[in-house]
Amino acid sequence: MEQYEFGIVGLGVMGRNLLLNMADHHYAVAGLDLDQAKVDALHNEATAEQQVSGKTTAQDFVGLLKTPRAILLLVPAGKAVDSAISSLTPFLQEGDIIVDGGNSYFPDTDRRVKELAEKGMHFFGMGISGGEKGARFGPSMMPGGDQEAYDRLQPIFEAIAAKVNGDPCVEYMGTGSAGHYVKMVHNGIEYGIMQLISEVYDLFKRGLNYSDDQLQQTFESWNEGDLQSFLIEITGIVLKKTDDETGKRLVNLISDVARAKGTGKWTSQNAMDIQAPIPVIDTAVAMRDLSKYKEERIQASKLFTWDAAIDDKDAHGGLVEHIKSAYYFAVLTIYAQGMEQLQLASKEYNYGLKLADIAKIWRGGCIIRAACLEDFMQAFIKNPELPNLLLDEQIAGKLTGKQEAIRFVIKYAVDKGIPVSAFMSALGYFDAYRSERLPTNLVQAQRDYFGAHTYERTDKAGTFHTQWD
Ligand code: 6PG
Repeated sequence: MEQYEFGIVGLGVMGRNLLLNMADHHYAVAGLDLDQAKVDALHNEATAEQQVSGKTTAQDFVGLLKTPRAILLLVPAGKAVDSAISSLTPFLQEGDIIVDGGNSYFPDTDRRVKELAEKGMHFFGMGISGGEKGARFGPSMMPGGDQEAYDRLQPIFEAIAAKVNGDPCVEYMGTGSAGHYVKMVHNGIEYGIMQLISEVYDLFKRGLNYSDDQLQQTFESWNEGDLQSFLIEITGIVLKKTDDETGKRLVNLISDVARAKGTGKWTSQNAMDIQAPIPVIDTAVAMRDLSKYKEERIQASKLFTWDAAIDDKDAHGGLVEHIKSAYYFAVLTIYAQGMEQLQLASKEYNYGLKLADIAKIWRGGCIIRAACLEDFMQAFIKNPELPNLLLDEQIAGKLTGKQEAIRFVIKYAVDKGIPVSAFMSALGYFDAYRSERLPTNLVQAQRDYFGAHTYERTDKAGTFHTQWD
């Protein structure tokens, strides 16, 4: 009975919730999972009105789908994607579409597009953001691949996506692996913002000795105006939660060793390949790595102590407001870095990315959704080729007034010995970016000294080499 319009492979948290979201929008959706318990969970959760069917074999599952088939994979990135594809393809035919909705590494997506094209099938890499709740009630989706195949999927994706002012948070991103590339950078930005928020938390906790209640109230109060964002919002919620067992604030019982699945690292690795400077994201990746060296940090904490030069918080009139402004400033540099990487990658890989569309679909549903995305969308509508958000006059206007704040906060943190690597990196980037002349002329001279690598001059054209001694 080929009656189901869409199929989902992998009925874990994301797969099950997306499937139910589609069913809410009156699509008949089939699910596949090798684990009978997950299939049962789907059937239990679905309502009588929802047209939903779960199977445990690829053949039964494919047999339910209308042709040409559209199947969304929601399995862990890596080998699981390849094995899901090879278990399905014997039952598929030309014209069918497979969409990979996981956080796959974009070169894998390029490879899979080619492999399936040889069989006459379409393969789509689609970043999906928003976690469990997003999947159930409206994620942000970043699809990339063959435009014609996308046109067939567009109605269903638009139906299930988050909406901002009625606009669905899904747009066709571009060719090949564009969708997964955009999602990778989304996650890099996510890492940067999360690191920054943790530094703000530390400034308040270690620096100003804020109580748990004060910390929570501070983040709660920040979630409005220019700072309104999902990550600030959940920080307030996270800080409020008490542990059922001990009655203590749960966050204080959580180990400081941070984990990562790799998307932030890939963002940094690829940024190096295409020479996109994204130092705050790099720093965020490095700080998660550094957090793992707990034993070494314990040793070092005994070896290197620092008596804070300043501990009178009254000596810091305006510090709290400065931290708020500094946070806004630094967050903006993170988006500026990530979005410049996207502009560069679009040229490098011929993706045809439209930055205004990316800002538009990041306004809702995704983890990095924030009020400032509206400003970014306007900036890229005004100038689709804008290389860096810092060059937009309106954004520049908002940043200029906050320069003093970030400098103030960093000086405070330096005196107190509180690590604020992301803030420092944001300011370092900003100061370098706004420098008409950098000291890298000296680097060029040194390269020429020891390696005859040559240099260009400012007063005449050509390439030069000097016998330095
Ligand atoms: C999202 C998230 C999601 C996931 C990350 C977490 O957009 O919904 O980014 O994809 O939570 O993969 O990544 P780490 O485990 O690397 O922190």
